[in-house]
Amino acid sequence: MYILTLFPGMFPPVFNTSIIKRAQEQDLVRIRTVDIRGFAKDAHKTVDDYPYGGGPGMVLKPEPVYEAVDWIKQELGREPFVVLLTPQGRRFSAGLARQLAQKPDLVLIAGHYEGFDERIRCLAHMEVSVGDYVLTGGELAAMVVLDASIRFVPGVLGDKESALQDSFSDGLLEGPQYTRPAEFRGMKVPEILLAGRHEDISRWRRKEAIRRTLKRRPDLLETACLTFEDRCLLEQVIDEEKASEARGDNCGHHKTN
Ligand code: ADE
Repeated sequence: MYILTLFPGMFPPVFNTSIIKRAQEQDLVRIRTVDIRGFAKDAHKTVDDYPYGGGPGMVLKPEPVYEAVDWIKQELGREPFVVLLTPQGRRFSAGLARQLAQKPDLVLIAGHYEGFDERIRCLAHMEVSVGDYVLTGGELAAMVVLDASIRFVPGVLGDKESALQDSFSDGLLEGPQYTRPAEFRGMKVPEILLAGRHEDISRWRRKEAIRRTLKRRPDLLETACLTFEDRCLLEQVIDEEKASEARGDNCGHHKTN
């Protein structure tokens, strides 16, 4: 995986930490940052220029970005999948992270400054946005895309950390989790988790994942993969929530949102 950026120094602190660091040490992924400025041709290493037609701000020039991608292609000896980070791109999601994790060679282009020359778009196989807001540059977006995608590379997460248990992996949010102590400042861990009956615990976890999704992201339930048993749990949760609302409960010890 290559990241084209004007700020290569932003990446090592993030990628030389924790799970991504371990993945690189195990040779499961290789991350290289490529400094776009290194491909500027003039003595001043110019990477941006004034916009044609006037207007505020500077625009990232096409030449150094094209040169950098050519250099990567030469180094690889094959065509990489090129992703351009921009708020105008396709909205990033767990599904897209999983797709990108399958690409043998990925290049992420992080634009900075106020914008980039439109011809840079022609380099990209896909444009990706990490959300409906504007960041000061594509670097943080590239980190998000890389981090979420790497979690889907086989072997990167241990069985216990498996991405398949994450929120969104089956279209549901993850339910609540607890560790010791069993009671903290008056807030108790649900009895069922302490009793140690594994079947009951799995069913409870599934049900609470459904409850959390219903309460926080009901839109996800429309596309989630729900089994017949999940649908029964959903019915139960709907009934329980209605009853709880009628009683005027303030549910459990957590805010709902
Ligand atoms: N660059 C600036 N804002 C961005 C966003 N929301 N997504 C991807 N790239 C960006």
